[in-house]
Amino acid sequence: SMTSELDRLVNTVPDPIGRKLFLEEMRTFLVLYNRYISEKNEGKKTDWQKVDPLAGDHIVRYDQLPPVGNSLLSKLAVLKVSGGLGTSMGMAGAKSALEVQNDLTFLDLIAQQIEHLNATEHSDVPLLLMTSFNTEEDIIRVIKKYTNRQVKITTFNQSRFPRVLKDSLLPFAKSVHEGKAAWYPPGHGDLYTSLSRSGVLDRLLSEGKEYLFVSNADNLGAIVDQRILQYMAETQSEFIMEVTSKTKSDTNGGTLVDYDGAIRFLETAQVPPESLDEFQDARRFKMFNTNNLWIDLRALQRVIQKEGMSLDVMANSKTLDDGRTVLQLETAAGSAIKHFNNARGINVPRSRFLPVKNCSDLLLVKSDIFRLDHGRLVMNENRMFYTLPVIKLGGHFKKIQQFQKRFRQIPRIIELDHLTVAGDVYFGRNITLRGTVIIVANEGQRIDIPDGCVLENRLVSGNLTM
Ligand code: UTP
Repeated sequence: SMTSELDRLVNTVPDPIGRKLFLEEMRTFLVLYNRYISEKNEGKKTDWQKVDPLAGDHIVRYDQLPPVGNSLLSKLAVLKVSGGLGTSMGMAGAKSALEVQNDLTFLDLIAQQIEHLNATEHSDVPLLLMTSFNTEEDIIRVIKKYTNRQVKITTFNQSRFPRVLKDSLLPFAKSVHEGKAAWYPPGHGDLYTSLSRSGVLDRLLSEGKEYLFVSNADNLGAIVDQRILQYMAETQSEFIMEVTSKTKSDTNGGTLVDYDGAIRFLETAQVPPESLDEFQDARRFKMFNTNNLWIDLRALQRVIQKEGMSLDVMANSKTLDDGRTVLQLETAAGSAIKHFNNARGINVPRSRFLPVKNCSDLLLVKSDIFRLDHGRLVMNENRMFYTLPVIKLGGHFKKIQQFQKRFRQIPRIIELDHLTVAGDVYFGRNITLRGTVIIVANEGQRIDIPDGCVLENRLVSGNLTM
């Protein structure tokens, strides 16, 4: 059984202190696992009949929030979740340790944003980073240089759970020393347990912190917003999710719904396949979660102590290099909303959501479309239209190593509207792309865009003759 398998794993931890911590972690895993098994046995799924779009009064428009009065920054802490595997980009380490601009990584920019806030507002807002066994090393290396700066950074590690084989539903790790493929970080919903288990939650509360602003480390648009903070305090809202309006190209992302009369958060993975079209229909569900969350810390402590932070379980299936199929049981941070009082959404401008989910997104944030202002990416004033270009890099650019190899330098794209690249394509230095540019290398063919090249409204396929 799972219990005896976990006992066996616990007994492979050599030192007593390590064993105690590992045991605690496995207990948390077991709770999640048991819930998954019982829901599976009951055939429990989201009952789509009970799902409706959320009524208007649960979502506040950002532009209707009152202006900022007294500063509440002394009660605020900021948390960036940064423990994910970044599998969509083929990352082995931390995405947040990738360089964005001028040798500065996501983490550098985040640290600068808070440093700037503290300097201009005479505040002392601490920065917390949730790492995982996959990202801790990279992250600690990058943040070392901030020890004597105006931003206090604390890292804590999230849980490491055993992947289970899909057939047996048991872990395949034989000991705690098993390699990385045997483990996984169980989603950003793990932040609540990990914050508490690490002792960081108690410390924040004892320091008088009352509010936590959480966001994804790859979202450089998620800066501290004092209007939201104040609104939260004034309305005694214990949990706020920043949502933003869908555009035609947004189909992904979970959203807030009305579930049988109560506010709930639904991830795409929780939607029955036959209802997916309806869920993704921007006319019916008009907004999606940015994963910028504001949480009342005292309420969080209460939930953890009184009822336990149980979150919806999602089974994420993966295929290992050796062909075996494994499951990872994961939770999403937004799903915690159901535990809090006066919870609501705020419909924020799209500028607060600038995620880097793939290498096309990465190209954009690294480019001259943006310039840096104290760690913030602001759109270059010289861009004619206040819209972002549409960038579609093909499969050859999917993995970060490929991306880095295929762009010797990031092209100038300030006048770009649309870029599609398909096939085996390499970019040299000092390249300018304008208007609509489409580059297609057919099967077995390679295209090299030479140094200094200017492409304006061009379709390039086959050999490039200038
Ligand atoms: P996502 O899982 O949505 O995206 O995580 P991702 O990191 O791009 O990963 P892939 O490509 O889907 O694998 C959103 C944020 O949550 C963090 C990530 O680091 C990212 O900042 N996260 C995710 C965690 O901190 N822990 C997790 O277990 C998972």
